[in-house]
Amino acid sequence: MKYISLNEQTQIPIIGSGTNTFGKVGRQYQAPLNHDTSEIISAISLGYRHFDTAVSYRNESVLGLAIEESVVPREDLFITSKIPTREPYLESNAMIHEVIQGSLEALQTDYIDLYLIHKPTNNMDEMLNLWHILEEYYKKGTFKAIGVSNFHEAQLQYLIEHATTPPMVNQIESHPGHWQDDLIAFCQQRGIVVEAWGPLTNISDEAKDVLQDIGAKHEKSWAQIALKYQIQRDVVVIPKSHNPENQAANLLLFDFELTPEEIERISAL
Ligand SMILES: NC(=O)c1ccc[n+]([C@@H]2O[C@H](COP(=O)([O-])OP(=O)(O)OC[C@H]3O[C@@H](n4cnc5c(N)ncnc54)[C@H](OP(=O)(O)O)[C@@H]3O)[C@@H](O)[C@H]2O)c1
Repeated sequence: MKYISLNEQTQIPIIGSGTNTFGKVGRQYQAPLNHDTSEIISAISLGYRHFDTAVSYRNESVLGLAIEESVVPREDLFITSKIPTREPYLESNAMIHEVIQGSLEALQTDYIDLYLIHKPTNNMDEMLNLWHILEEYYKKGTFKAIGVSNFHEAQLQYLIEHATTPPMVNQIESHPGHWQDDLIAFCQQRGIVVEAWGPLTNISDEAKDVLQDIGAKHEKSWAQIALKYQIQRDVVVIPKSHNPENQAANLLLFDFELTPEEIERISAL
């Protein structure tokens, strides 16, 4: 596994597992939890050590259960969660602290490796107030790193100018057809690590054909090529799979390199 530094003490594995439909009836995002930990346990046994959840996914407790069941020590795992910004979560500072305590309890842990603001709010004062609270938890070590998700340049710039601790991560949608190159460059130039969510969704058949063609030369699938393109440019990926074969394949990205010509073809998708 390759790691990227988020700060002096914290490194993030460049491949993690998404979880947004894990532990849910029928593998549906909106469905009730069934507390099934098998997808996460399977991922851990295949070598995943990085998991991405969120308060909005309602399944932090399933990850907590899996951590408890797993033989892997907590300190070997990298856990990300996210605080929602919709009502009523930002109603008061007391509510924000309650949500954070809820994440810690559900995950059955006394620290979280990375905690993100899930989405920007239109109200900059509200966003900054929330950020200052995340900074407090970072300073006391409850959060090992803090960051944001779905932020655009202007929102990041505002945070950089007003925060004591700048965001360490921006988790954004990025995949063929929607790479978001300008935003990625903006982040990377400022030392903000980019994570790609949805790295394997909403990809056209034409784009898959190109990825498949490149993959044939490396004996890799279209999905592995899409993921490799991201990690080769230091973008963290968090693909999600309910299928152990795909989970395993998504980790097999370190035994080949894309050539400059291949990179050019993929970046044009
Ligand atoms: N910050 C945000 O606002 C935000 C928003 C959305 C998602 N996320 C996070 O990002 C994670 C990933 O995004 P996502 O779950 O939306 O989608 P994704 O990881 O891009 O794609 C998941 C789909 O890809 C398939 N897949 C996985 N590996 C494959 C492979 N090797 N070959 C072929 N198909 C493969 C899966 O099917 P199988 O199950 O059959 O393998 C599943 O249908 C989420 O789980 C969540 O943690 C964050």
